[in-house]
Amino acid sequence: MNYFQYRNRALFCEEADVEQIAREAGTPFYLYSHRTLRHHFRVFSAAFAEVPHIVCFSVKACSNTAILRIFAREGGGVDLVSGGELYRALKAGVDPSRMVYSGVGKREDEIDLALRTGILMFNVESFQELETINVRAGKLGVRAGIGLRVNPDVDPETHAHISTGLKGNKFGINVEASLLAYRYAAKLKHVDIKGVSCHIGSQVTKTSPFIDALGRLKDLIRRLREEGIAIHYLDLGGGLGITYDRETPPHPSEYARAIIDASSEMDCTFIFEPGRVIVGNAGILVTRVLYTKENDGKRFVIVDAGMNDLVRPSLYGSFHLIQPVIQREREEITTDVVGPICESGDFLAKGRQMPAVERGELLAVMSAGAYGFSMSSNYNSRPRIPEILVRDDRWYVIRKRENFEDLVRGEEIPDFLNT
Ligand code: LLP
Repeated sequence: MNYFQYRNRALFCEEADVEQIAREAGTPFYLYSHRTLRHHFRVFSAAFAEVPHIVCFSVKACSNTAILRIFAREGGGVDLVSGGELYRALKAGVDPSRMVYSGVGKREDEIDLALRTGILMFNVESFQELETINVRAGKLGVRAGIGLRVNPDVDPETHAHISTGLKGNKFGINVEASLLAYRYAAKLKHVDIKGVSCHIGSQVTKTSPFIDALGRLKDLIRRLREEGIAIHYLDLGGGLGITYDRETPPHPSEYARAIIDASSEMDCTFIFEPGRVIVGNAGILVTRVLYTKENDGKRFVIVDAGMNDLVRPSLYGSFHLIQPVIQREREEITTDVVGPICESGDFLAKGRQMPAVERGELLAVMSAGAYGFSMSSNYNSRPRIPEILVRDDRWYVIRKRENFEDLVRGEEIPDFLNT
């Protein structure tokens, strides 16, 4: 459920007219609905109301500090993967005791920052990382909360690039090795074992892979407890999918029911790291048609947003529904929707059946809130586009459009090139 809807054939975000925003803010831009963001967070958290849990929003999905603040005010924590994300979360006011830090390549300076911040736990992905965290914690005179990120070897049945919990993926430690790693961790002076974690992949549209992973983790927790290793937190990662096109993912309440039913007498606080399910359908990309053309019978709609603004279609062949901001009667055509970047891979849609839109019209690229702006770049020296947040009938620029100065900020021409 989201708050983007047509009123008299004009697209609205909550009570704000998208065309009006485009007129004032210029295109392209990302547009988020505050009500939708808050609603999605609340629905997800409420689904687990009967068990102790922390919802740690996965910052990589949408990293804007204003958006992180919305979740922080709802009592949310964060799932981090870098020092930069930690910095953002602190700026947004997230409580460190609700922060978990995943990722296969944590640097020492990032580990130090997290230790000084006092995060809840590191989801440790290798023996060497475990050793490093122990050494850094010793140097700083603190104890590091840790869990191991276990690779449960289950198939999330999603796109190969976003499946992470299969044997052969770079993530985590396999179940057998993690037993050894926990025994080793139990002897380390500066680490405090708190939990077990896993993340099997993203855009998962069934509950069964989560339940399979949970089963393997339950088993591991039982074996650890038998050895006297206490586990207080069970982090099941993120990954719940959304509807982009015709997918029918489980509703958060169905996902929660399945997990709660499969985890009786676990006596753990659950941690979840949802990203996409919270923000995906709470944001759109608004772009303007620059030109239309036909080449050898093939049609192109050329828009002012490119793969640098939204890379998902180019990178994964992802589907995003594209619809005119102002609807009217017209014929349906089959067309590619492409951006201005100098790459054939620069498209938002290929062979798409859609209304015959014309030069100057506004298009809404739907379901772009997750991994949209956060994966955008300056490729082709295109300033990154603004992020705008709507609340009721008002809108707020939560990240300004970059300008040309921003593009060269930090660049320097060395002296030898000045003479
Ligand atoms: N936790 C960990 C450890 C993760 O690696 C991820 C996502 C999440 C949580 C959040 O997953 P979500 O709930 O959003 O599925 N760029 C790709 C998605 C990459 C996901 C990476 N990890 C895309 O645009 O589809």
